[in-house]
Amino acid sequence: MAAMITTPRLMAVGGGALAELASILGRLGLMKPLIVTDPYLAGSGHLERATGYLDRAGVVWKVFSDTVADPTTAVVETGVRCFGESDFDSLVAIGGGSSIDTAKAMSVLTANGGKMRDYKVPAEIPKAGPPVVAIPTTAGTGSEVTRFTVITDSETDEKMLIAGLACCPVAAIVDYELTLTMPLRLTADTGLDSLTHAIEAYVSRRASPFTDGLAKNAMGLIARHIRAACAAPDNRAAREAMMLGATTAGMAFSNASVCLVHGMSRPIGAFFHVPHGLSNAMLLPEITAFSATAALERYADCARAMGVAEEGEGSQAAVARLLDELRRLNEDLAVPTPRAWGIDAARYDDLLPVMADQALASGSPANNPRIPSSDEIIDLYRRAYG
Ligand SMILES: NC(=O)c1ccc[n+]([C@@H]2O[C@H](COP(=O)([O-])OP(=O)(O)OC[C@H]3O[C@@H](n4cnc5c(N)ncnc54)[C@H](O)[C@@H]3O)[C@@H](O)[C@H]2O)c1
Ligand SMILES: [Fe+2]
Repeated sequence: MAAMITTPRLMAVGGGALAELASILGRLGLMKPLIVTDPYLAGSGHLERATGYLDRAGVVWKVFSDTVADPTTAVVETGVRCFGESDFDSLVAIGGGSSIDTAKAMSVLTANGGKMRDYKVPAEIPKAGPPVVAIPTTAGTGSEVTRFTVITDSETDEKMLIAGLACCPVAAIVDYELTLTMPLRLTADTGLDSLTHAIEAYVSRRASPFTDGLAKNAMGLIARHIRAACAAPDNRAAREAMMLGATTAGMAFSNASVCLVHGMSRPIGAFFHVPHGLSNAMLLPEITAFSATAALERYADCARAMGVAEEGEGSQAAVARLLDELRRLNEDLAVPTPRAWGIDAARYDDLLPVMADQALASGSPANNPRIPSSDEIIDLYRRAYG
């Protein structure tokens, strides 16, 4: 069966790539972008550099900087009104996954109307909207190249997955220099997110030879550089590797899907406001142990790609090394358990059935090598609690 592959039309990749912003807009025939970012980035100097390039090229722009972490339907709707206030022809997202996802969702609602929940998976998005140019400032989500946006419903707290060609940016500017300002915790959390993308894309039932290469490349880069990027924020080689890893992992999972870790992670993020990469990392070792028996060879390949098992080593031993490494990584990067994060045990327990329902409804668990029942998901949440 043919693999269907979605990627942006144009990408500028490398240190200093931000300088290509005006030329990329020009090549795509885009004249008047609304820039979507968050309050921190609006004042961080990154935005000013970007708008400086636009000013020098005579491009007219405006900024919408109300994005919040884990973007909500309320913010997206405000953004859509802002977009409608002028004759903007495109959206330029500068920021982490939250800013990029907000711009994607604004594009979807601008073209199709209605509410964000009308488009959550498995719904189709009828029309593509104004093009999005994505400029990531975190090395994590890969949203700059994915056909997904993740938006939290302000009314129900559900973290909804919205997927389709309409969500894929038309262009991406992947400039690791923008990530040099990331503090340690953000570097660790976003890096663990991209490592999870790479592993899940590789073990997914929807993986293809095309995505396998991207996923293995990504997990090798991330596993070898994540500790260095955390230890020395200005380590340019580590930052570059992490950025490349995040974007290639994004291309892999966008076309192979994520699996059970992401399915179970989103409800933790939505209900307890745990940063996305952290909630993935809290679950990754337990879920890998649960899933490994169903795809031993694939998980063994992950261990080899990450450099924690030898090429000739048997699969069982390689998977044991993978589990060791994932647990050690969580220790080294100070990933707390849900209990240590301060999540109340009684509330967690009460919400488990709803969280399991939401995880299953997202569709991601169906891509897992071992497809869990609702009870198994609840059991995994309990085991990860700590
Ligand atoms: N669309 C996708 O394919 C996809 C994939 C995975 C995750 N996500 C979503 O992305 C969101 C998370 O995105 P994220 O992890 O990139 O974080 P984020 O965008 O929420 O940003 C987190 C914080 O980091 C700050 N920040 C961003 N870049 C910085 C920099 N260079 N220096 C200093 N601070 C910086 C931001 O201002 C913000 O306060 C979640 O909502 C998650 O569900 C989307
Ligand atoms: Fe993710």
